[in-house]
Amino acid sequence: MDERRLREIDPEVYAAIRSEINREKNNLLMIASENYASLAVIEAQANVMTNKYAEGYPGARYYGGCEFVDVVERLAIERAKKLFGAEHVNVQPHSGSQANMAVYLSFFKPGDVIMGMDLSHGGHLTHGSPASFSGTMFKSVSYGLNPKSQRIDYDQIRDVAKKHSPRVIVAGASAYPRIIDFKLFKEIAEENNAYLMADMAHIAGLVATGLHPSPVGVADFVTTTTHKTLRGPRGGLILAQQKYAEKLDKALFPGIQGGPLMHIIAAKAVSFQEALRAEFSIYQRQVVDNARVLAEELLNYGFDLVTGGTDNHLILVDLTKRGITGLDAERALGLAGIVANKNAVPFDKRGPKTTSGLRLGTPALTTRGMKENEMSIVAGLIREALEHPESETVLQDISRSVAELCSLFPVYENLDRGHDL
Ligand SMILES: Cc1ncc(COP(=O)(O)O)c(C=O)c1O
Repeated sequence: MDERRLREIDPEVYAAIRSEINREKNNLLMIASENYASLAVIEAQANVMTNKYAEGYPGARYYGGCEFVDVVERLAIERAKKLFGAEHVNVQPHSGSQANMAVYLSFFKPGDVIMGMDLSHGGHLTHGSPASFSGTMFKSVSYGLNPKSQRIDYDQIRDVAKKHSPRVIVAGASAYPRIIDFKLFKEIAEENNAYLMADMAHIAGLVATGLHPSPVGVADFVTTTTHKTLRGPRGGLILAQQKYAEKLDKALFPGIQGGPLMHIIAAKAVSFQEALRAEFSIYQRQVVDNARVLAEELLNYGFDLVTGGTDNHLILVDLTKRGITGLDAERALGLAGIVANKNAVPFDKRGPKTTSGLRLGTPALTTRGMKENEMSIVAGLIREALEHPESETVLQDISRSVAELCSLFPVYENLDRGHDL
């Protein structure tokens, strides 16, 4: 076997990875769903467990030689149970979308009614959008935000549920800056004989540390990704009561997946261990404090924020009155070294490729060690860029300030000190 390192075997891929490392080091990463996984997490997913077929579950596999992958899967399960207080955990979903699909297919039949938050109001594709399997396999109905408060409208949810009798209500969002009342969702689900699935992909880190009320023990099923605020490897996770375990596990494998990604499960185990440490709670508290300060500063600069602020790790800026689209804002910020994404705002008149909004998140900046002070600086840089989106000189000036700020809060330094990549 050719055992040379990647650098020698495939210089093109190696160079692209090096460039990505530099991009992540030298820009302000403000995409709310992204984070910097620790080197330990990255190391754990780059290992020989990628070679191993382990269809089945620990102790009941369809292949021999699973004794060591069983160790990591059991560790991941036990740690996730402890972290979230769950009775049953499945750590095998390859992604958040597959975690959601497994829940749907475990208890519901194609054609059943599922009810989730409208994509344009902050829901996720897998919550019933016609662009996803969830909206084509199932009959999907949606609820939205209250036009005045821009918050989840529980009265509307009650009405929609009464009218359409969904089999499952999905609580969770990709772009909602406020607390979600899972208990109220459960009440409404029970009144309508529906199951409740909570998708806490965005807020899992906050939930794990008590900064957001937990849906575990409230919702029938809880799904999440592991790579957002939770700061693990890219992947999914399902949590549920024991009584649902058998059907859920079967729906995932063999229902929709084959062999689990054991190297990723190893990395999930590492990230859950990290999340159980006291430092992780301090980190999450700072994520929320940083988002609050960033929101306050942007409000002081006259920006409109959806719901007027934030309770969590993200902010949704409504640019309608500023005369700039989400697309142009994303582009201008990108040129200035600030990476964020355009996002629909509730009742957006523009389409999803343009949008009138901008989503900003603090998880990655906080992982670098940035605090309230830096959020004030970042708010000033964002304002400057959005006031001069066409000025190359201004954007270039800002990018110099961004580079300076990044150099004060280094990440992945060991990757420059002889670490493998
Ligand atoms: C709320 C929510 N659920 C599910 C997902 C899907 O996760 P994945 O991209 O891993 O399929 C996302 C991803 O953005 C999300 O925000």
